[in-house]
Formats: sequence, structure tokens, C-alpha cells
Amino acid sequence: PGKVTTLHIHAKKRRNEKITMVTAYDYPSAMHVDRAGIDIVLVGDSCAMVELGFETTLPITLDEMIYHCQAVKRGAPNRPLLIGDMPFGSYEYRDVDVALRNAYRMVKEGGMDAVKFEGGTVARSRIVRHVVQGGIAVLGHVGLTPQAINVLGGFRAQGRTAIRARSILDEALRLQDAGAFAIVLECMPANVADVITRELEIPTIGIGAGGGTSGQVLVFHDLLGMSSHPHHEEFVPKFCKKYASVGIHINDGLDRFKKEVEDGSFPGREYSPYVMTKEEESSFN
Ligand code: KIV
Ligand code: NA
Repeated sequence: PGKVTTLHIHAKKRRNEKITMVTAYDYPSAMHVDRAGIDIVLVGDSCAMVELGFETTLPITLDEMIYHCQAVKRGAPNRPLLIGDMPFGSYEYRDVDVALRNAYRMVKEGGMDAVKFEGGTVARSRIVRHVVQGGIAVLGHVGLTPQAINVLGGFRAQGRTAIRARSILDEALRLQDAGAFAIVLECMPANVADVITRELEIPTIGIGAGGGTSGQVLVFHDLLGMSSHPHHEEFVPKFCKKYASVGIHINDGLDRFKKEVEDGSFPGREYSPYVMTKEEESSFN
């Protein structure tokens, strides 16, 4: 199977085939997502939280995002569509050339095929239009936009009144008009995502937005249970199904390594492969 392009993503919506997207932040996660045949790898700024331990997505810088994009590119160089999240503070200015210049860095230095911007205000859609005209494919993102956490007041569902739902639909239409090739719908009632998906030509990719979107995205660490542990609470968002408990295996492996080193059973003869000839041994020992 060849390279996934934005045309393939559009064709999937037309044919009523669901689009799959998963985040990755480094070489091994990208390799796994590629091998699973997922359509799109998103180098999300959720990296700040799940990889770097910050409370929000705000602290991660453009240079740091590019560093992670480069590792993901090495892990999945050929098949999936690679999308890089533009971090907080790298694109919001009235001077739309700031966004374009930084988006070029994500493509040229980071190896990304497309970039993602949060929000769909009139000002934000101007930025999207400028970047698309500059030759870069853009994925939109509306509903809960975590970079706006201090404005929204917290990580909570959006579009729960008719007026607010209408304004999310308006943002999505504006982003489509600006040239976005698809739009992420995050944390909103399923009926709102359904209507938006029906009203748009371009595909929608949902997270916490019900089953009516053109595709689904989840964060790698959440869907795989990377921090599950026999004796510690694991936080997983309400909307996220956990398809594995990888953290249990990590803990088990580390536990057994520690025990076997401490009781002397590792490495043993089996994992001590390097030998001298008998002659050398007798003259050395
Ligand atoms: O950063 C991220 O992981 C995202 C997805 C949840 C859409 O933006
Ligand atoms: Na993000």
C-alpha cells in the first residue's frame, strides 16, 4: 500500500469508509501505528502532557514539536499521512506570515505532510487560508481546543446549547471554506458532530464526539493504557476506550528484571555469551 494522501482521506468519506488517526510522538510509537495500518499519524501537542508530563498542552515549543516530528518521520517514513500540531504561540498572530513560516518548518524540518491548527474564528480561518495558499495542507480542529484551556476554563465538553453548537458548525464551515482538508471535532454531543459532518463536504475526525463522524482519533497513551499499573490509579478520559493495558506489561517486565538482578538469577550462563578460548582463559585467569 502506497502513501496515504489527503485525496485518500476525502475518498474514504465519499465511500463511507471510516478514517483512523492515532497520535505518536517518537520512533517506536510511530512504527507501531504505521504497522497497524492506521491512516493518519498525528504528532499532537498532547505530547506536552503524555510524554513530557506537563498539566496542559501550552508549554511545548515549536522546536520541541519539530524534534518529535523528526523521530515520528523516522518511525513511519513511507505510508501514513503525517500531521504535525502547531503548538500554542506559533500561529495565532494577526501577521499570518508567522503561521506560514512556522508551518513550513513543520514540513521542511519536521518531515510532516500537513499541519493542524486549533480554532475556527474569522481571524483563525484567515491564517488557515494563508497557509493552504502557501502550499501546506491543513487539518482544522474545533469544539474543545485544549490550547484555549485558560479561556474555556477547563477541559470540558463544548457545544451543549443550540447557540454554542451553531457557532461550532459556523467555525467548521469557515475552516472548510478556508481550505482545510478535514476537521477534528473534539468533545461535543454526538448529535452536534453528526450535523456538522452532514453539513460539510470535507471529512470530520472525532474524539469524544460520538460515532457519526467520518473517522476517529485517540491519543496513543490513552488507548493503549500506557500508565496502567497494578497499584496506581490511571487517568483515562471518559470518552476513551482502553484497547490494552500496556503499562501492566511494562511494570511486570521491570519488576522481574529487578528481582532477578537482586537474586543473581540474571544474567546467568544463558545471557553471558562472550567467551575466551580455553588457552587464553588459562593464561588470563
Ligand atoms: O494533540 C492531540 O493529541 C490532538 C488530538 C487529540 C486531536 O490534538
Ligand atoms: Na493537539
